[in-house]
Amino acid sequence: MTSGGLFISFEGIDGSGKSTQVALLAKHLRDEGRDVILTREPGGSPGAEEIRALVLQGDPDRWSAETEILLFTAARRDHLERVIRPALDAGKIVICDRFADSTRMYQGMSRGDLRETVDRLHTLMIGVEPDLTILIDMDPARGLSRAKGRQGTEERFEDFGARLQEKMRAGFLALARDFPDRFRVIDGDREIEDVAADIRCAVAAFR
Ligand code: ADP
Ligand code: TYD
Repeated sequence: MTSGGLFISFEGIDGSGKSTQVALLAKHLRDEGRDVILTREPGGSPGAEEIRALVLQGDPDRWSAETEILLFTAARRDHLERVIRPALDAGKIVICDRFADSTRMYQGMSRGDLRETVDRLHTLMIGVEPDLTILIDMDPARGLSRAKGRQGTEERFEDFGARLQEKMRAGFLALARDFPDRFRVIDGDREIEDVAADIRCAVAAFR
């Protein structure tokens, strides 16, 4: 989709190290002199950050599964229009902590099989995929204990527990097999610097 820029997303279960690794990759690429936009979903633009608070805080049953798909997609559309697309058009590297694959997994699988609804709405309203998706794969129990170690009010999906994390891990690995051109799977159950080195290699090989 990109016109000069490069769009990289990071995916994986909660606590797999995405936030840690996006920051390290952004620093590395900036040190190389590249113009990098580091962003995240849900959120990444002022409007989408407001939607983030609506979906990740408060009563987990506040929204139906279908409404939740609409909210995540609305947030993504705003983020795409206002942040991602302008940056790519300007030739920048966009690194996004989660993107549409998270909706395919969390909204598409966690409360019944809604994958087709997610995909149809994506085609209609978003219509782009990252050039490269780094999937940080790791043992869900370890990911969950890492995620639980953090303080905060955004516990929405972490609270579903280990079984959901196991299902998400398998789902992400299946997605990586379905889209081998853009996915690279990285073993996240290692020292932070070892994981970062593999990610740098995957990005360098792609460019
Ligand atoms: P995510 O964004 O995928 O939820 P984070 O990057 O926030 O994951 O990491 C979750 C927690 O685990 C943080 O406290 C982070 O410092 C820690 N962490 C990240 N990567 C590693 C690693 N490779 N080994 C040990 N701890 C890690
Ligand atoms: P994030 O802040 O990336 O959480 P973590 O650092 O724990 O991985 O994302 C917050 C939560 O939002 C996470 O539990 C996954 C969920 N999520 C969805 O359910 N659908 C989506 O489309 C996205 C982008 C995130």
